Order: sequence, then structure tokens, then C-alpha cells
Amino acid sequence: MSILEMRGICKAFSGVEVLKGVDLTIEKGEIHTILGENGAGKSTLMNILTGVLPMDRGSIVFDGQTIEHPTVPLTEKLGIAFVHQELNLFPTMKAYENLFLCKEYTNKFGMLKKRTMIERAQALFDEMGVQIDPIALVSDLSMGKKQLLEIAKALLFDAKLLILDEPTTALNNEEIDRLFEILRDLRGKGKSFIFISHKMPEIFSLCDRYTVLRNGEFVNQGNIADTDAEALARMMVGSSYVNSDIYRRRELGEEALGIQGLTGNGFSNVTLSAKKGEILALTGLQGSGSSEVMQAVFGSVPVDAGAITVFGRTLKRHGIHASMKAGISMLPSNRKENSVVPDMSIHENMFLSEHTLTGSRQHIFKKAEKKEYGEMKTLLNIKAADSENAVTSLSGGNQQKIFLARWLCTGGDIMLLDNPTQGIDVGSKAEIYQLILKLAETGKTILINTLEINEIQKMADRCAVFYDGKLLKILDHDEIDEHTVMMYSTNAVQAMEE
Ligand SMILES: Nc1ncnc2c1ncn2[C@@H]1O[C@H](COP(=O)(O)OP(=O)(O)OP(=O)(O)O)[C@@H](O)[C@H]1O
Ligand SMILES: [Mg+2]
Repeated sequence: MSILEMRGICKAFSGVEVLKGVDLTIEKGEIHTILGENGAGKSTLMNILTGVLPMDRGSIVFDGQTIEHPTVPLTEKLGIAFVHQELNLFPTMKAYENLFLCKEYTNKFGMLKKRTMIERAQALFDEMGVQIDPIALVSDLSMGKKQLLEIAKALLFDAKLLILDEPTTALNNEEIDRLFEILRDLRGKGKSFIFISHKMPEIFSLCDRYTVLRNGEFVNQGNIADTDAEALARMMVGSSYVNSDIYRRRELGEEALGIQGLTGNGFSNVTLSAKKGEILALTGLQGSGSSEVMQAVFGSVPVDAGAITVFGRTLKRHGIHASMKAGISMLPSNRKENSVVPDMSIHENMFLSEHTLTGSRQHIFKKAEKKEYGEMKTLLNIKAADSENAVTSLSGGNQQKIFLARWLCTGGDIMLLDNPTQGIDVGSKAEIYQLILKLAETGKTILINTLEINEIQKMADRCAVFYDGKLLKILDHDEIDEHTVMMYSTNAVQAMEE
């Protein structure tokens, strides 16, 4: 029996149709994935279902009831919970206050029942197996914990249908496993889920059925058990999808980046070097220090000891500007926290870093920038109507491409990319890997911090595996495989030797 039927949903933004008569059926007690390229319309369809955005045409029947005009309070009341792609938490409020926002428990005098809410929050966190202190400030929580808190919000109110739009982008493997256990358990109790993700392994491990959208149109639906990743990718992207082996060994140049004995919060005594034209992957479980080392090289976190050299010259100052001046650029992880300037246009967001570097110049060369914007748009296949629109009008994956472009524009010799394909669809991922290989061929040195081993295999000349703040092992391209990387990133190697 179906819990949700959406029929012929249409939506246009300033005359551009982004949903063109989409159908979606969700059964009771299933986990259903909606697949599609960046900008295909997945989040928009969910925004319409939950009343965040009005639809132009179409019909929605939820749990036997026709919803003519969905609004957020109405759909919540009917039992639909939505965990958005970009988190919606108030950083200056406590964890439990966020959890109960607008749904506070009060006594008959209207007084807040704080203790009850804190206890209820604690019980829920225990049940989820997450270590969050209910009275901790949200701003003090790690990105992963924030994401789990957002999910807890949806679980708290016993919804019938839960929508999770890319819920795992900031979670480590253990947290993902735990989340999936919870979802499977709730599915067993008859709850339904819509699960959106660009990570194929997640889809195959968790989901029962799929619906594919392409350019705002319904393409197909079916059982996950009857298909494979290759076939799904082809439905999403069309015939242009290629998943070939693209790695090529190249001549590398002199040392471009040298890190000697770098020590700081979360990493110690890291010594590493990368050559001109090299692609070096950094990996490790969350908390391993690989991301922190990258941030230290970029000057965005302090260091206690050690030195950084660029083409043999030691950086005398430590800080973002000094690193940028030396030709280092960095795409940080967690787009919403570290990259998006929501009040600025797409164009302004793209050229932000370039302007920081050329700040002493009196003029902005708008015409040249327009041309460069056009080039980047083609190169990265960015789906945007008008570059003067707010950056927030772009889909998640297309925003990510703007930030990648932001750093490509600065023309630095050394690029640090922290989780660069976060939220990027399979087709564009393949294109970005090609682009990174091409950049390396032209002599750029590229460090990529990622958990996706498949990504490392496709691009990296070497892979540095971190564990507990230390560089444990450097693997050569031919040694990189899932098993070996996991052995080192969980330090199973040492356990075996003991
Ligand atoms: N508020 C808005 N104003 C204008 N255009 C918008 C707005 N919201 C979404 N769009 C456009 O609608 C299209 C669909 O976007 P949507 O966010 O639904 O994509 P998506 O499938 O969720 O992609 P992703 O995988 O990147 O998250 C995109 O072209 C996007 O730019
Ligand atoms: Mg989206």
C-alpha cells in the first residue's frame, strides 16, 4: 500500500521549468531513493511535498488524504519529517533547544518543561547511540554531530514518512552504519523513508526502490535488487556516462610542497612532500588528522611546531594570506559552514578568493570575470540560470562546483581539496576526476582529502593514510585498494603485528 502519491508535479523558477510533471509513489515501510544529477530537481520536489515551496501544478495524496496546499506546519502535523540537505540549526542554542524548537513541552501554565525535554533528548541520543550532550551549544558540536542532531529532530516526532536529503555527507563510517541500523529498524516498524544520496554504495546497502529524475522529468522507477550502479548512473546521466579507468602515470617534477614535523591540534609530527604535477590523496577516518593537516598547510588552523616549504622556500608567516600568496589554494569541506556566502550572488561567490588576493587593485575587471565565469561554467558543467542570482538558488552540487571554481580562479600552484566531490553526482564526479588529472598534467600539485577509496584509486599517484593524528603509511598508486587503505586507517596493521 502506498503512503504517498505525487502526480504530475510542475514547478518553474522565473519561467524556467525545473519539474516537468514528475510522479513519485512511496510504499509503506520502504526506503526509497530519488536519484538524479545535480539540479535534476530532487530537493525541489521534496520542498514542494513539505510545503517549503508552492507547486505550479500537480496532486499530492499522503496517507489517503489529498493535500491541496501543503504548508510546513500541515505536513509536519500529517507526519512528514524533512532533514534538509543544508542543515538548519541555531548555533547559539543548546542541542535540546534545537531539537524541540517550536514544539517545546510546556506545563499547564505555559512554562517550559526543561528537565523533561533534556531527559527525552538524552534518551533519544542513547537510542541512536550518539554522544551528544543535550545541553551542549550547537556551535560546539562537530559537523557530524550536527548532522545527527538534525536527524534526531526528525526521529523525535514519530513521523510516518521521513525525508533524508544527503544525510551522510559529514558522518564517519561508524556513524553511517549506526544511522542505517536505525533506519532499517524503523522500516521494520512500518515507517517510510525517502533517501537522497550521491553515494552508490549507500543506496545499494539501504534502499528498496528507486525513482530516477533527469532535468526535472521522471525517467524510471524500480527495485534496487533488479539493477546495478552502472545502469542507475546511465539512467541519471544519459548515454554520455563513462566509468573507465582514467588514471595515467605522469612524469613528476621537483618538490613543490614540503611539510616537516608539522604539529598542531589533532595532528603531530607530520612529514610529507608532494612533487610538481603530483596528485596526493590524504585519507583517514574522521578525527585521524588528515583534514587538520590540510587546514594547517593553508594556514587556517594554528601550528605548534614544524615547517612548510613551497618550492624550497620556507613560509615565514603562518596564516591564510601567507599561504595564498605562496600559491596555495584550498577548497574546504562542509560547504555550508565554510564556503557559502548566502547574501552574495553566484558571480561574487565565485570570485571571492581571487579578490582577496588582488585586494590592493583598484578595479574589478567585470568583463574579464564574466568571460572566466562562462569558461568555468562550461568546464565544470554548472547548471545556473543567471550569475547575478543568489548562490542559494543553485542546487547543492552546483554550489559545490562554484566553490571549486572559486579556487581554480586563483591560479595557485598547489591546490588542497578537502572532500571536493561532496554532493556531486556520479556523472560530474567522473568529469571532475578528469579535470583534476588534467590540472596535474599542467604542473599543478594537488592534495585531496577524501574517504572515498574509489576516488583515490581513480586519481592519486600516492595515498597518505592517517590514524590518530599521525601519518601512518604512504601507499603507491598500485598498492591502493579498499582493503589496504582500511587496514591502515583503522590501524589493524599494528594490531596484527602485536
Ligand atoms: N529558489 C530557487 N530559485 C531559482 N532556482 C532554483 C531555486 N531552487 C532551486 N532552483 C533550481 O532548480 C533546479 C533543481 O534544483 P534542486 O535543488 O531541486 O536540484 P537537486 O536535484 O536537489 O540537485 P543536487 O543533487 O545538486 O542537490 C536547479 O537548476 C536549481 O538551480
Ligand atoms: Mg539537492
